[in-house]
Amino acid sequence: MKKLKLTTEYTLFDNYSELDVQSQELMNIAIEARKKAYAPYSKFSVGAALILDNEEIIIGNNQENAAYPSGLCAERVAIYFAGAKYPDNHILKMAISASSSIKKTDSPVAPCGACRQAIAEYEMKQNKAIEIYFMGDSGKIIKVNSLKALLPLGFDKSFLK
Ligand code: THU
Repeated sequence: MKKLKLTTEYTLFDNYSELDVQSQELMNIAIEARKKAYAPYSKFSVGAALILDNEEIIIGNNQENAAYPSGLCAERVAIYFAGAKYPDNHILKMAISASSSIKKTDSPVAPCGACRQAIAEYEMKQNKAIEIYFMGDSGKIIKVNSLKALLPLGFDKSFLK
């Protein structure tokens, strides 16, 4: 028997102005997408923006449903749309911003487990890491260089055959 430790690494930015210009622009697009989220039930709006290697930008926001599990998170709306529209392009970067109309969201909001699994699939498909930046509606921003930093010991296609 052995006990092992996993470590992860991320960059913490004190505020938005510390980001490079392209990441600021992508985050602005995520913020604008967040404002158009359809989140009447949770009152928690999330926006995501992806930039592809063809310089296209794809957005997503959460889409809720009265039958709660039928809704979808912003990150998956964006990544599935990118997969549908540009199946052969690589996703380079993703920016995420979340905000609640019932409470202040001034610390970074990380993607949920299901979205991590979905993003992991696309990293594997394109064999290239996706940089992910996430924040609340204000305050600090976290950047990871790859989804792997958020999902250690993940499940992937290598287990299937
Ligand atoms: N949500 C996202 O869009 N992304 C996440 O990573 C976490 C949660 C959405 C789903 C639901 O519409 C609302 O936020 C509250 O969970």
